[in-house]
Amino acid sequence: MKTTLNSARAHISSHPRLCLLIAFLSIQVLVLSIARTPNDVVSEPECPSGRVYVYNLPPTFNKHLLLQNCTDLHPYNWQCGIATNHGYGAAATELRRVLPENLSVIFHHRILTHKCRTTEPESATAYYIPFYAGLAVGKYLWTNDTSKRDLSCRRMLKWVQKQKYWQKSNGSDHFMAIGRITWDFRRLTDPGQIWGSTFLNMPDMQNVTRFIIEKAPADARDVSVPYPTGFHPETKYNLREWQKYARGYNRSSLFTFIGATRGWVSNDFRGLLLSYCYNESGHCRVVDCSVSACSTDASVIVEALLGSEFCLQPRGDSFTRRSVFDCMVAGSVPVFFWKRTAYDQYRRFLPGEPKSYSVFIDHEEVRRNGTSLIKDVLMGFSKEEIRRKREKVIETIPRLIYAMSNGGLRDFKDAFDVALDGVLERIKKGKEWDDFL
Ligand SMILES: *[C@@H]1O[C@H](CO)[C@@H](O)[C@H](O)[C@H]1NC(C)=O
Ligand SMILES: *[C@@H]1O[C@H](CO)[C@@H](O)[C@H](O)[C@H]1NC(C)=O
Ligand SMILES: *[C@@H]1O[C@H](CO)[C@@H](O)[C@H](O)[C@H]1NC(C)=O
Ligand SMILES: *[C@@H]1O[C@H](CO)[C@@H](O)[C@H](O)[C@H]1NC(C)=O
Ligand SMILES: *[C@@H]1O[C@H](CO)[C@@H](O)[C@H](O)[C@H]1NC(C)=O
Ligand SMILES: *[C@@H]1O[C@H](CO)[C@@H](O)[C@H](O)[C@H]1NC(C)=O
Ligand SMILES: *[C@@H]1O[C@H](CO)[C@@H](O)[C@H](O)[C@H]1NC(C)=O
Ligand SMILES: *[C@@H]1O[C@H](CO)[C@@H](O)[C@H](O)[C@H]1NC(C)=O
Repeated sequence: MKTTLNSARAHISSHPRLCLLIAFLSIQVLVLSIARTPNDVVSEPECPSGRVYVYNLPPTFNKHLLLQNCTDLHPYNWQCGIATNHGYGAAATELRRVLPENLSVIFHHRILTHKCRTTEPESATAYYIPFYAGLAVGKYLWTNDTSKRDLSCRRMLKWVQKQKYWQKSNGSDHFMAIGRITWDFRRLTDPGQIWGSTFLNMPDMQNVTRFIIEKAPADARDVSVPYPTGFHPETKYNLREWQKYARGYNRSSLFTFIGATRGWVSNDFRGLLLSYCYNESGHCRVVDCSVSACSTDASVIVEALLGSEFCLQPRGDSFTRRSVFDCMVAGSVPVFFWKRTAYDQYRRFLPGEPKSYSVFIDHEEVRRNGTSLIKDVLMGFSKEEIRRKREKVIETIPRLIYAMSNGGLRDFKDAFDVALDGVLERIKKGKEWDDFL
């Protein structure tokens, strides 16, 4: 992203009229912000759905988890440095690989600096528990000692239960953010009762709302939120600049597939798509993560996504996939093969009508009719149909990203704002869980 943004900037500065226009707009913004009297600000409805109290948890449940030895953590895809820049990473404008675990760090920081945070628990509508569950549990997922995966969760709940405001509601006005999929916390309901921690099976968690990157379909207290990507604009202007760039990019490939085969999973759908993509090199742009260093060098991914009309999004180890969000942020139209990858998740974040922004091709149909079905379906769309889908994707970008923190005073709503508004509204109005999902 850095390279692409820089080339966007280089492009802009090579156009004197554009420069003038931008200078003009900046002056307008300055004038407007000077002209706003403090009264204008006060008269805006402040936190209409109430305020959030953030528990001051012992650091062993959050900050200390960020200090652990990197080598302690799970064997693949893990890197150190999760706490850099409040969870946003070192260079906030780079579309880099962001670990899902960063979600808890991002939420925590955003809430602490939000205008609707209160330090007086008696005046709060909702209570935020800044427990970094993904880190606490992730560390032990690949060890044999299952009890270790639950220890920190149990201790945290014990601490919370002693709090007066927990006791008032049994946790039903409490919420948290978890940067791993829900299946990592449901060992008791895992078919083999082997995988994961039992955190979300614990009775005390049954009333707590959790923002999580992949939800359990039957559990309305799981609320799925977008995976964090590396795009964290600071202002609406940065956002608009990126949207314009993604809209205008010359997309010379019909579709792209980014992924690695899981050699040990027989009959793996991702392996099938990878092989298909290699064979269809005239139409498909391959990023093979078993060859490219996808986790450290995002530029190859960003360029593939920007350069393609569509991106193929099979299920991964679970139904959801971080790449869906990278894809959409780059303005590429996602192609899904399982409904649960997106349509049954992220309801508050994605457009309501699947066809408006994506393509669905059932995985079973691909198996039955052959992979060439994919090209046939995608080539069947007119330029205008593709343009409309892409426009919808680009319009949705703000709701899919985690912008830089600015106290909740921004003039656009990002994924965090949508999530926070939703949980406050639900708690305030005592809405049904199912309204929210
Ligand atoms: C990190 O690992 C080293 C070597 O195993 C150990 O000496 C050190 O105490 C560990 N640090 C933490 C914070 O666990
Ligand atoms: C999250 O993790 C990545 C990968 O380790 C790290 O580089 C980054 O600083 C952390 N924050 C974000 C938002 O990427
Ligand atoms: C876990 O247990 C299995 C056998 O029960 C053993 O082969 C394996 O090495 C153990 N793994 C660890 C990390 O201790
Ligand atoms: C909380 O749960 C306990 C035990 O289930 C119950 O006795 C109590 O009435 C509940 N409190 C509220 C406010 O629902
Ligand atoms: C959930 O909340 C209700 C009241 O809102 C309470 O009666 C119930 O006991 C709570 N459940 C648990 C497991 O605390
Ligand atoms: C888009 O890219 C293709 C392939 O690189 C090239 O042939 C074409 O001229 C480009 N179109 C524009 C408008 O730049
Ligand atoms: C790709 O081509 C190879 C060699 O012709 C063939 O064996 C393989 O089945 C093809 N893959 C797909 C998905 O069509
Ligand atoms: C798949 O093949 C079957 C039987 O050949 C055909 O009826 C069906 O229309 C095909 N599906 C698509 C999407 O082309």
